[in-house]
Parts: sequence; C-alpha cells; structure tokens
Amino acid sequence: MTRARVITIDGPSASGKGTVAARIAEALGFSLLDSGALYRVLGIAARKQQLSLHNHQQLARLAADLKIEFGISGPGSVQLNGEDVSQEIRTDAASKLASEVGAIPAVREALLQRQLAFRQPPGLVADGRDMGTVVFPDAELKIFLTASPEERAQRRYKQLIGKGIGAILPDLLRELKDRDERDSQRAVSPLKPAADAAILDTTKLTIDEVVARVLELAAVSMDDGTP
Ligand code: C5P
Repeated sequence: MTRARVITIDGPSASGKGTVAARIAEALGFSLLDSGALYRVLGIAARKQQLSLHNHQQLARLAADLKIEFGISGPGSVQLNGEDVSQEIRTDAASKLASEVGAIPAVREALLQRQLAFRQPPGLVADGRDMGTVVFPDAELKIFLTASPEERAQRRYKQLIGKGIGAILPDLLRELKDRDERDSQRAVSPLKPAADAAILDTTKLTIDEVVARVLELAAVSMDDGTP
C-alpha cells in the first residue's frame, strides 16, 4: 500500500507556518495537521483539571484520552470535549503551557499516535516543530521556515493589535525568545531543521511569496516522472 503524501512545515513561533500550511493544504486539497494546537489544547485541559505539570504520567494519559475535534465550528476551529476553545488556545498563557507540556517525553509519545492518524489520502500538510524530524521523517517535502525574532515579534504585534488586543512589542519579543529557547534546548524533539529540509528565511518575504515558493518545491517533489 502506498502511504499518503506528507509535506512538513516546521519552524519557530510566528514564522508564518500556520498560515502557510493552511494555504498549501487548501491549494493541494490535502488535510491539515496543526500539531501546536494539540499541545495547546492539552495545556489548557491540564489547567482546567488542575493537574500538576510535574505529574508526567497523568499528563500523558490525558494526552491519549483527550477528545479534540478540528473544524467543527468553521475552518481552524478547535473543540475540547465539545467546548469551542479556538480563542482560548491562542492566548499567551496557552502558548506557555503548550511549550511546558511539550517538553515532557511521555506527552510527546502519547501525542505521536494521534498525529500519525492525520495521514490520509490524498495527502497531509503538517505544521509544528518536529514534523519533519520525528513525526513524519519519511515526508516527501520538508520545509523549515525562519525569520528574525524582531520580525516575528512585529508580526505577532500587528496580529494582536489587528484583533483589538493590547500588546507591548518588547514584551512580545522577550516571550518569543524565551519560547524559542525552551523549544530549541529541550532534550526531546527540539526545534531544529531536518537534515533534508529546505530552509526558507521569510524575514523579507510576504506570505504570498512564501506560499508560491513552497508550492514550487511541492510540484518538484511530487513530480514522479509520469508525462
Ligand atoms: O505552533 P504553536 O505556536 O501553536 O505551538 C505551541 C507550542 O507547542 C510550541 O511553542 C511548542 O513548545 C509546542 N509544540 C511542540 N511540537 C510541535 C508543535 C508545537 O512542542 N510539533
């Protein structure tokens, strides 16, 4: 049986990977895995149940049992046990919780099977930190998006202000650097490009330019030589 195709898009926070992944999935008719959303939902579920982040086995059980549904109340929406948590998982508190639970090996192991299940024909676009290195090492195209921390903080600032949410640029920059540090230094599945990933620095590129470049690479990687 041939396996469904996978395109992985990894990179640090606010590198644009979520937007780019959604656009590529739509253009190719592939399904989408926003793996960060799984870590975010787990973080807020643990908080709602007042679980200690030190109890790794309990968190891993929660990760395996969580009832998470995507896309029920619109594209990009996320439900936890039937409750719409789409907004709640995007808060800074949820980002921090996600990166804390994401550093726990038993949690990553429990979420691995759930992520693999997203691989369905005709294909999958998966975005995260370790999609190309750990979860889908046999993906046919691996992209690693980067941008300078200053540019990423700027993007996040504009996004928040655009939504009417107050934000302080130097605070955003500091939080982003802290999260990069935690994600890159952890022992399991650290944020790093796969050896065979195409690295795209998006600091000076628009989203449209990045999408066009990834689609070009996807066309080359899917060209199986049949005329
Ligand atoms: O991608 P996003 O910003 O939603 O991810 C939130 C956090 O979840 C990351 O900072 C990271 O700590 C964790 N994460 C991870 N592995 C992934 C996706 C996200 O550890 N594949």
